[in-house]
Order: sequence, then C-alpha cells, then structure tokens
Amino acid sequence: MRMTTYHTIEDIIGSTPLVRLQRLPGEAGAARGNVILAKLEGNNPAGSVKDRPAFAMIREAEARGEIQPGDTLIEATSGNTGIALAMAAAVRGYKMILIMPDNLSVERRASMTAYGAQLILTPADQGGMEYARDLAARMQAEGKGKVLDQFGNSDNPLAHLQGTGPEIWEQTNGRVTHFVSAMGTTGTIMGVSQYLKSRNPAIQVVGAQPAEGSQIPGIRKWPEEYLPRIYDPQRVDAFESISQSEAEEMARRLAAEEGIFGGISSAGALVAALRVAQRVENATIVFIVCDRGDRYLSTGVFN
Ligand SMILES: Cc1ncc(COP(=O)(O)O)c(C=O)c1O
Repeated sequence: MRMTTYHTIEDIIGSTPLVRLQRLPGEAGAARGNVILAKLEGNNPAGSVKDRPAFAMIREAEARGEIQPGDTLIEATSGNTGIALAMAAAVRGYKMILIMPDNLSVERRASMTAYGAQLILTPADQGGMEYARDLAARMQAEGKGKVLDQFGNSDNPLAHLQGTGPEIWEQTNGRVTHFVSAMGTTGTIMGVSQYLKSRNPAIQVVGAQPAEGSQIPGIRKWPEEYLPRIYDPQRVDAFESISQSEAEEMARRLAAEEGIFGGISSAGALVAALRVAQRVENATIVFIVCDRGDRYLSTGVFN
C-alpha cells in the first residue's frame, strides 16, 4: 500500500493567493493597461505575512545549533510577529516571551496568549517599540532567553527571498513590473526586492511609510538610530508617505468594494500602489496584504 503523508500546520505556510483588483483601480487600471494584484498574506495559518519569518528565524537558529526545543525565546514585537512567533514556538516546542507596547489592539494580545506565549506590556508613552526592544536586549543579557531580533536577523528577509519573492514571480509568470509593500522591519520588502531584482533588475520596488504624525499599526518611518539592521536602502527605489486617514479609508473600501478584508498597513500599501498606477502604463503592480481586517475590529476603524 502507498504511504499517505499529511501536512503539518508548518507545511502550509506561504503559497498564498494573488488576486486581481476589479473596481478600486478605476481609471488607473485597465484603461491604462495596468493590473493591480493583492498578495493575500492573511491566508497564512496565524493570519499574517509574519508566519514566514517567524518559522524561518526559529528553523535556521535551530539548524545552526543556537537553540533547541525547550529553550526560551524573547522578542519585542508590534503584534503580528508576536502572534506568528507564539504559534511557531508552540509548534516547535519553545517557551515564548513577547514584549509589546500596551497601546496595541486587544485581539493581538489575546491571540498571543492563546498560543501559550507570556506577554510583557511596556508603557507606550515611554518610547513604544524602542523601549520594548531595549528591554528585550536587557533580558537576553541577563540570561533570560534568546532574542530572535526580527529587525537585525537575516533569516527574516531570507523567508521572503526564498518564499514570497519566488511566489510573486511565478504567479505573474515573470510579468510583475512593480512591487509595493508597507515597511515595518523591512523584511518583506528587502527579501522580495532581492529576489525580484535578481530575476529582472528593472522591477520597481516601492515602500509605503506612515506620513509624519500618522499612526499605522505595524509600520514606521524609523528614526535614523533605530533603522532596522536588515535594511539596505539600495533595495527600495521609491517611497510613498501615507496618512492614517487615507489608509483607514482605503481599508474600508478594499473590504466593501473588492471583498478583501485587510489590515490598515495593507491598505496603505494599496494607496501607494494606486499612486504608482496613475503614473505608469501597461504595468503589473503587486502589493502585499500583510494581514486580515479582523485583527483591527476593536479599533473601530471598520465601523
Ligand atoms: C500589520 C503589519 N503591516 C506591515 C508590516 C511590515 O512588514 P515588515 O516587517 O516585513 O516590513 C508588519 C510587520 O510587523 C505588520 O505587522
């Protein structure tokens, strides 16, 4: 009899759908020969693009002999990475301590504890993510566990160099001309850019950042001294500044007009993609929907 093998939850990370927008592009779409495609990373098992780097960082550290099941891992995270790491730690048998500012949505915190992680909430008014990252480093120095450091860990962009990038290339049959992503750790844009430009150096890579004074969960315009170590400015061709209200309005429209229920930073990437579409012709523009809208219900943004 033939052996039947079944997938584990880890095996089904990635290979996410790529879908064409039908209404939102309007004049910037078919009339100009442009196609706008959404890469649905919310379809990953723990609900975001972060499943990819979370598993890659644990798998690669394990392969190098730096950690082994039973160890304690520590990470400062703005949310999605925490949920993904909590799941990955549960699957692979690690204890997970997550440090996050106390102003992040309740759904995120509850999802992390559901996967068995321990949470440390830091005062948001004392420096937000920077404070959380400093505390994680202090705890590692005190021997309380190993910090994976998604901001400086090359296994974060590696997940996108080996997964997200090749998927986009194959799903568009090499037709992709523009790639747009919101920037947090910059892991997504670094890894995808590296892969796509290796196949076609003419592909334009556009980063979406929150405008001055705007709060968009998961992404930042980093002050110079906190720029992620994995960030290489040569891999991004252009930036678009997105205001919070533009991103929130677009998140509502993406759900109501396209049936795609994505998060706020995903909608920010779409705002950037639509600006690109207004400037170009005959382009195939791919943007990342990093997570699902359910994760933001308690913020009232969809009311
Ligand atoms: C909601 C959300 N959007 C965008 C990003 C940015 O992804 P990256 O860290 O790969 O730049 C993140 C990262 O945590 C996120 O949580």
